[in-house]
Amino acid sequence: MRISVIGCGYLGAVHAAAMAELGHDVVGIDVDPLKVDSLAQGIAPFFEPELPELLARGLDAGNLTFSSSMAEARGATVHFIAVGTPQRADGSSNLSYVDAAVDQLLTVLAAGDVVVGKSTVPVGTVAALAPRIEAAGATLIWNPEFLREGHAVRDTLAPDRLVYGIGAGDNRSADVLDDVYAALLEAGVPRMVTDPATAELVKVAANAFLATKISFINAMADIADAVGADVGQLADAIGQDPRIGRRFLNAGLGFGGGCLPKDIRGFIARADELGVGASFGFLREVDAINLRRRERLVEVTRAALGGDLVGRRIAILGLAFKPGSDDVRDSPALDVATRLRAEGAHVVATDPQAIETSRRLVPELEYRSNVAATVTGADAVLVLTEWPEFVELDPAVLGRIVGRHLGEQIVIDGRNCLDPALWRDGGWRYYALGRISDPAPAGMNVAQLA
Ligand code: UDX
Repeated sequence: MRISVIGCGYLGAVHAAAMAELGHDVVGIDVDPLKVDSLAQGIAPFFEPELPELLARGLDAGNLTFSSSMAEARGATVHFIAVGTPQRADGSSNLSYVDAAVDQLLTVLAAGDVVVGKSTVPVGTVAALAPRIEAAGATLIWNPEFLREGHAVRDTLAPDRLVYGIGAGDNRSADVLDDVYAALLEAGVPRMVTDPATAELVKVAANAFLATKISFINAMADIADAVGADVGQLADAIGQDPRIGRRFLNAGLGFGGGCLPKDIRGFIARADELGVGASFGFLREVDAINLRRRERLVEVTRAALGGDLVGRRIAILGLAFKPGSDDVRDSPALDVATRLRAEGAHVVATDPQAIETSRRLVPELEYRSNVAATVTGADAVLVLTEWPEFVELDPAVLGRIVGRHLGEQIVIDGRNCLDPALWRDGGWRYYALGRISDPAPAGMNVAQLA
C-alpha cells in the first residue's frame, strides 16, 4: 500500500519507518528540509534505539523515502498526520501544524483516500476538520499513538492495542486500516473501533491516568518523608493488588518529556472549554504535585549541604527526562540543575545522550562527557535520571573519584533508583524523596523540612 506520513518528528519518523518495515511503500513528509535530509541519509534526528536500523532497512529496500514536498504524497491512499501539537501559553493545544498539514493535504488528496490522524489532539478535532476532507471525497479518521520514547519502534510494531476512531456510516476506513496493520493484527494485537471523539479521548485519558499514578505516589512520598516511612516499599505493597498494579508507581522527581505534561494541560484546557472543568481539578493538582518535586529536591540538596548552596560543587548525573532518551523537553533533571545554579551552586552535569540537547536549551550549564570528570571534588552527587550506568555505579569506586572523606560524601537519589544500604556501606550519606534519608549534620532530618 502507498502511504504518506505528514510530519517527521518523533512520532512521524518512527511511524514512517515502521510502516515501511511492514512492507508498505512510504513517503515521510516534513516542512523542515534539514530533518528530511537527515532522515533520507538514514540518520535519526534524535536518539531512539532501533530506529537507525529500521531507517536503513527501508531506505536500502527503496520503500521508504522522505521529502519536503507535499506533492510526493499524491498517489498515496492512506495519509497519516503525525505533526506536533505543542502547548500554548495558556496550556491549551496549538493545532496550527495540524491545520497546516490538512491545508497542504487538500492540494493532493484524491477521492477515496483515507486521512488518519495520529497526533494527540483535543477531543472534537475530527469533527472540526472532517467536512473539509470529506469535501475532497476522502475520509478522516483518528488512530491515536501510544508510543513511549526509548521504546518507540517496539511500541509501534507491537502496540498494546490499536484504536480506530471512525465516523458513523464509514464502513470502508476500518478495512483500509486493517490492511495497513495486517501484520500486527495477525500477531494478535487487540483492535477497537470507536467513534472519533472516543478515540481522541483514549489518548489523553491514558496519559492523564499515568500522570495521576505518578503524582499519587509522589504525594505518598511527601507523607513518607514526614513520618520516616519508605515510599518504595509502600509502592511494592500496594502494587501487589492487581487492581492497582506496580507500574508507574516509582516516586521521585516526577514526570517530564514532550507528552505527559503538555497533554494533561491540554486536557484541562479542553475540559474547561467544554464546561466540565470542575471535574478536572484533580488534574491541575497532578500537575502541581509534579512540579513541586523539583523544588523539593532542591530543598533536600540544600539541607543535605547544611543549609547553603552558594559556591557548593554539585555533580548532576542525568539530564534526560527519562533513561533511553536524549529528550530534555520539560525534563525534571534539567530543571533541577538550572534551579541549583540559579541559587548559586557550581553545577556540573553529564548524561549518556542528552548533553547536546541540554546545551541547546541551557548553554550556561557546565557539561562533562563522563561521570569521573563530573563528580571529581563534588560536595554532592545527584542522580536525576535512572540510566543503568548510573544505577550500577560502585559507591566505593565513585567515592574515591569524588575525593572527599568518608562520611562527607553525599548522594541524592532523585529517582529512588539506588540501593541505600550499598551506598551507606560505601561511606555515603544517602538522601532521597520518600525514603529514609540520613540526618543532615545539624541533626536536622529531611523529613522535618516539609
Ligand atoms: C508517555 C506515555 O507513556 C506514552 O504512552 C505516550 O504515547 C507519550 O507519553 P513518554 O513520554 O515516552 O511516554 O514517557 P514515559 O515512559 O511514560 O515516562 C514519562 C515520565 O514519567 C518520565 O519523566 C518518567 O521518568 C516519569 N515516570 C514514569 C515516573 O516518574 N515514575 C514512574 O513510575 C514512571
